[in-house]
Amino acid sequence: MPRAARKVIIAGAPASGKGTQCELIKSQLGLVHLSTGDMLRAAVQAGTKVGLAAKEYMDGGKLVPDEVIIDLVRERLAQPDCEANGWLLDGFPRTAVQAAALRAAQIEPDLVLYLNVPDSMLIERVVGRRLDPETGRIYHLTFDPPPSDVVPRMTHRSDDTAEKAQVRLSQFHEHLGAILAAYQSVTVEIDGTRGKQDVFASISRVLEGSAIAA
Ligand code: AP5
Repeated sequence: MPRAARKVIIAGAPASGKGTQCELIKSQLGLVHLSTGDMLRAAVQAGTKVGLAAKEYMDGGKLVPDEVIIDLVRERLAQPDCEANGWLLDGFPRTAVQAAALRAAQIEPDLVLYLNVPDSMLIERVVGRRLDPETGRIYHLTFDPPPSDVVPRMTHRSDDTAEKAQVRLSQFHEHLGAILAAYQSVTVEIDGTRGKQDVFASISRVLEGSAIAA
């Protein structure tokens, strides 16, 4: 019997490594990667209604209102590629209201990976992050330096300052308990303080184990 497509949520503080691990998980499992941060940044760039509503919140490091993001995610998860290949939801849900909206739509993950990294490590990760706009690859000036041909085109997110990261972190802590409570029975905590390949090795073991159990 074919195995059901995986439905995975990855949760964690700003710069805990969600996007980095999603790149690795996606290449292993072929899941559709949906990052609400990327979706919102694309909407801001395109000047859509959602983008206009989200911009001022994102610029301040604050969560965008639930009603701005919930429909966007529900509609995207209903697309045929998500149904066929499974999905990897990165950065959603982030509030109790968002988790309740998924549940009401009968969208349930079979696994929630919670990347646990203490705040003391996160600011350095935030300020050193750089992105390659051509490939979407995430780098870090110290921990994962880009090759020299990528350096001239690297970009730096406008919310990746120490000051805005503090706002993002406090919002994260305000809502974390509600998210963990909503998915208690399917959540696995991963120690995200190690190097990215070690973190990925742990995630792979969990994915293999829960795939066998599924
Ligand atoms: P979003 O883009 O989701 O930002 P975030 O949650 O703050 O997460 P990040 O993208 O900053 O970090 P990450 O965990 O993906 O880390 P990464 O792998 O890049 O959201 C942005 C904004 O959009 C929000 O502030 C909000 O306004 C809005 N938004 C989005 N979703 C929303 C929602 N559901 N509701 C309301 N508003 C929403 O890694 C970070 C750095 O560390 C990189 O440089 C990387 O190279 C490095 N690194 C990664 N892993 C390691 C490691 N193991 N060791 C050392 N360095 C590492």
